[in-house]
Amino acid sequence: MSSPNRPSRCWKNETYKTALYGSKVFHSGDELGSEIAVSCDMCHPRAANTHPETYPKFQPQLGRVAMLRDMINWCIEHPVRGKVLAADDPKMRALEAYIIAQRKGIPLDYGKR
Ligand code: HEC
Repeated sequence: MSSPNRPSRCWKNETYKTALYGSKVFHSGDELGSEIAVSCDMCHPRAANTHPETYPKFQPQLGRVAMLRDMINWCIEHPVRGKVLAADDPKMRALEAYIIAQRKGIPLDYGKR
């Protein structure tokens, strides 16, 4: 007989694997397609100053209300000079998972500047 916890443990494991893959992408200029060998952790060690809990919020450099993925792409395009990711790209999903995982426990505060 399977334990009642089994499915939830399995789901947790899948979630963890996604965040782990995000960590790999976050730390790799190659995974990000950077032309200048720059990765996210160079400016955001352990996802510092990424503030996922403040999204969505207005971002002046985008001129609109941004979702977290918009700022991830902004950084991929500008400082990293890599390949912008589609919202549903597994790398984008994994980056979001990693960044949010690093801020576990911080209260949501959408719109905060
Ligand atoms: C060369 C330094 C540099 C690199 C490399 C870099 N960033 Fe950034 N990032 C910044 C700066 C500077 C800002 C602040 C922009 C602003 O809010 O005006 C920022 C802002 C952000 C934000 C929004 C933070 C907030 O407070 O709302 C996110 C999310 C983010 N970066 C993710 C990433 C990711 C993911 C990568 C790798 C793909 C990356 N950054 C690479 C410098 C960098």
